[in-house]
Amino acid sequence: MKDHLVHFPDFHKYESNGLSVYLESGNGNQLPLLTRKYIQNLLKVNMEGPYGPEWPSEEKVKRREMVAPEARYIFVRQSSNDFIAKKNMEQDAGVECTHEAHNEDRLLGFVHYRFVLEEDLPVVYVYELQMEPSVQGKGLGKFLMELIELIACKSQMQAVMLTVQKANKFALAFYRKLRYVISSTSPSRVDPLVSLCL
Ligand SMILES: CC(C)(COP(=O)(O)OP(=O)(O)OC[C@H]1O[C@@H](n2cnc3c(N)ncnc32)[C@H](O)[C@@H]1OP(=O)(O)O)[C@@H](O)C(=O)NCCC(=O)NCCS
Repeated sequence: MKDHLVHFPDFHKYESNGLSVYLESGNGNQLPLLTRKYIQNLLKVNMEGPYGPEWPSEEKVKRREMVAPEARYIFVRQSSNDFIAKKNMEQDAGVECTHEAHNEDRLLGFVHYRFVLEEDLPVVYVYELQMEPSVQGKGLGKFLMELIELIACKSQMQAVMLTVQKANKFALAFYRKLRYVISSTSPSRVDPLVSLCL
């Protein structure tokens, strides 16, 4: 029997690859103004390039989606104590410091997901997965997707789905690595988008 037990890591904290962060949940209709500004800014930093001339219209869509009551969030935060300690160490070592220390714990990224019906199947749909450039490639994206899969499993959803732009090769490679495949409902034949599912 023991062999059938599945062990999930402790998802409240992530301490690996030089990061020490914790997770916090949120809802689209209860986001503080500073958090909304943070999301808008990170989306612009990460997605303006891949979207190119489509960005201004896409940005409007994303701003509406961001605050929808059905939008669920998991935020990644670095405690300000850890952040200040790291910055002090960097300054002592003569590394130039480009960030101000904040009173509030610093956000490093987030995932926006929803429970939806996709062609009559209940699924968790990942609307956004965004990490700040400085923390990309440190395992946080994979960690958040594992948590989303756990949430989907515990909520008896049938799949995890998301849409990626075909041009976003980096994200496509990331999801493929996590075993996501092209969904049968994917718009990829007509759009520059591709839907993936697990
Ligand atoms: C895409 C993104 C969410 C990935 O998160 P991340 O924290 O940078 O990725 P991780 O460090 O968790 O990588 C997880 C795995 O994917 C692999 N991977 C990441 N990028 C890869 C790439 N370009 N090619 C191949 N493998 C890749 C990593 O090597 C890692 O594998 P490992 O566990 O065997 O080491 C993040 O880079 C990001 O926010 N990008 C900008 C926004 C974006 O494009 N979001 C997706 C839009 S749908």
